[in-house]
Amino acid sequence: MTDTLDIKITKTTHSRLQETDFTNLVFGRTFSDHMLVADYADGEWKNFEIVPYGEIAFSPAISALHYGQAFFEGIKAYKHADGQVSVFRPDKNAARFNKSAERLCMAELPEDLFVQSIAALVDLDRDWIPTEAGHSLYIRPFMFATDPYLGVSPSTTYKFMVLTGPVGPYFTKPLRVKFETHYTRAAEGGFGYAKAAGNYGGSMLPFKKAAEEGFDQLIWTDAKEHLYVEEMGAANVMFVLDGTLVTPSTRDTILDGVTRDTVLTLAKSWGMPVEERRVSIAEVVEGAKNGTLTDAFGAGTAATIAPVGSLNYNGEEYTLSDPLTREFSQKVLKTLDDIRYGKTTDTFGWNY
Ligand code: COI
Repeated sequence: MTDTLDIKITKTTHSRLQETDFTNLVFGRTFSDHMLVADYADGEWKNFEIVPYGEIAFSPAISALHYGQAFFEGIKAYKHADGQVSVFRPDKNAARFNKSAERLCMAELPEDLFVQSIAALVDLDRDWIPTEAGHSLYIRPFMFATDPYLGVSPSTTYKFMVLTGPVGPYFTKPLRVKFETHYTRAAEGGFGYAKAAGNYGGSMLPFKKAAEEGFDQLIWTDAKEHLYVEEMGAANVMFVLDGTLVTPSTRDTILDGVTRDTVLTLAKSWGMPVEERRVSIAEVVEGAKNGTLTDAFGAGTAATIAPVGSLNYNGEEYTLSDPLTREFSQKVLKTLDDIRYGKTTDTFGWNY
C-alpha cells in the first residue's frame, strides 16, 4: 500500500437519487451521482478526481475510438443489514486490470490506486447501493487511450474512469443456450483473456443471430475445431459432471473470472472434486443425455450464477433439471449471498 491517494472531490449540486426508480432497474442504464476520472501522461497517473456523472470531451482522433485500445472491469458492492458496505474482491480485478493493460500495450495502474479509487467513489455514493435481495452496486472501472493520433501505435496518454450504478439480477430465468460452432470469440495467441472492449464488440453479431434463433445465450467453443467449451456469453461456464465441478482451464482464450475463482475455491473448501481442464462438448452432451450432468451455469460478476436451462448442440436440444433442485449451484448462491451481504463470517477475506 502506498500513501493515501489524493482525490479531488466535486460533489453534485443536484442528486438524482430521489428521482431514481429502484424497482425497475435495467442493468447498465442507471448511474450513480458521481464518477471517477484520472489521467496518465508523462509516464505517471495524476489528476484523480471525483466529479458529477456526466459527459466528457475528447478529440475525435483518440486511438481508443479507432484502434480499440480500451478495456474494462466489473465489480460489485453490497450493503449489509448493519449499514456496512463491502466491495467483493476488488484486488482480483485490480490484478486483472493490469493483465488487460499489458496485453493491449496500455499503461498499468498500481493496484492500490485502483482499489482506493473505487473505495472513495463507492463511499461517496453509498446511498445508491440497493439493499434488496439479489441487488448490488455495479462498479465499472475502465481505461482508454487518448492520444489524438491516427498512427497505429500505442497511445502515450490514457484515461482511467470508474462509473457505478445500482443493479438487480442480470438474468431472471434459466437460460436456453446453444453451443456456437461457427463464430469464434477468441483464439490462441489472441486476447480473449483480457477484458478488451473489442472482445465484446465482436460477440454482438453471433449473439444477435443466436437470439433470432430463440436462444438466450451461447457457449463459445474453440477456434480450431469447435469441439471444446470455452465461455458462456460474457461469463465463464461451469458444469457438475458425475459429482465433479468441471470448468475450462484458463489460457489465452479464457477470462480468469473472479466469480469463477470464487466458485472453485468454495467447492474445494467443501471437499468437492474440481477439474480445470479442456472440456469437450461431447462429454457435456453425453452427461445431459445420461443424467450425470447435474448442474450447468454461467459464472460472472454481472451474471453471478446464471443457470443453464437447456443446451442445444447442432439443433439437438437437451433440457436440464430445474435449477431450484440443483444442490451445488443453490449452495454456492446461498453461500455467496451470505458472505457478500455480511450475513456470515467472511472466512476467505473476500469483502473489502
Ligand atoms: C461482468 O460480469 O462484469 C462482465 O464483464 C459482463 C458485462 C459485459 C455485462
